[in-house]
Amino acid sequence: MRSVIDIQDLSPEELDRLMDRAEDIIAHPDDYAEACHRKKLATLFFEPSTRTRLSFEAAMYELGGNVITVAGADASSAAKGESVADTVKTVSLYADIIAMRHPKEGAARVAALNASVPVINAGDGGHLHPTQTLADLLTIRREKGGFSGLTVGLCGDLKFGRTVHSLISALSRYEGMRFVLISPEELKVPSYVKSEALKKKNIPYTQVQDLESVIGDLDILYMTRVQKERFFNEEDYLRLKDSYILTPEKLKKAKSDLCVMHPLPRVNEISVAVDQDPRACYFKQMLNGKFMREALILKLLNIAD
Ligand code: NCD
Repeated sequence: MRSVIDIQDLSPEELDRLMDRAEDIIAHPDDYAEACHRKKLATLFFEPSTRTRLSFEAAMYELGGNVITVAGADASSAAKGESVADTVKTVSLYADIIAMRHPKEGAARVAALNASVPVINAGDGGHLHPTQTLADLLTIRREKGGFSGLTVGLCGDLKFGRTVHSLISALSRYEGMRFVLISPEELKVPSYVKSEALKKKNIPYTQVQDLESVIGDLDILYMTRVQKERFFNEEDYLRLKDSYILTPEKLKKAKSDLCVMHPLPRVNEISVAVDQDPRACYFKQMLNGKFMREALILKLLNIAD
């Protein structure tokens, strides 16, 4: 029985297979319409979510399976003081697979250690978000044809942005990758991410504060929201929240085949006018997430490899 808590729980070969599977699902959805017949996915979201929860649920329905859920932290026994361990032991008795989001870093790992069915980490605090990375990888492969030799700019809240941590971890395994880390001083990538992913593998990276001076070098620009819910005081959030706003004007300096990504939700980081630009990939990215979650569910339930 396998869980996916960290993107490193999947080898590069397995990621390739998941992307191939997602492509096959996109091309032949009817072949998968009964694949998860009589299987149940439990979604346990102890933090707000729109895309991740609904795409997991849509994924399970498209595979012919069923979904059980609790409506949020306040509606579950967590509100009565139940531990994550006890909650997942219980849910394991009712469901074949669990997708869980929790505000505490490490909660998904605790869940996996206690569950008797596979657990998928749908975001643990400011730590990791491996299934967003699955969406990101398929988007990059579809837009760029592969992963080697890319210059990837990550911009915004690189400290608390869990999608960034998982994406750096995944992309560090490919050849010729270069990172440009664009953030205010206070929101730089945590040192554990740099030492485990970038420094260990000697991956070239630069850390800058200004987006416009580097935008022309990038093949991928991954914008992120300043993670309001992780701040200790509102003043800091208000000061930092609009550090970066991507506009059509700024995009004039970018490559014509730049791929602009964002895990969404956006607040102000990308002006709505950018949505019309052919380089805007974030809505495709969101759809790719559903197909990759289908592929992952099939894999963890041992229905497909
Ligand atoms: C992200 C998350 O929850 O970490 N959202 C998502 O799952 N697509 C990004 C964010 O909330 O900023």
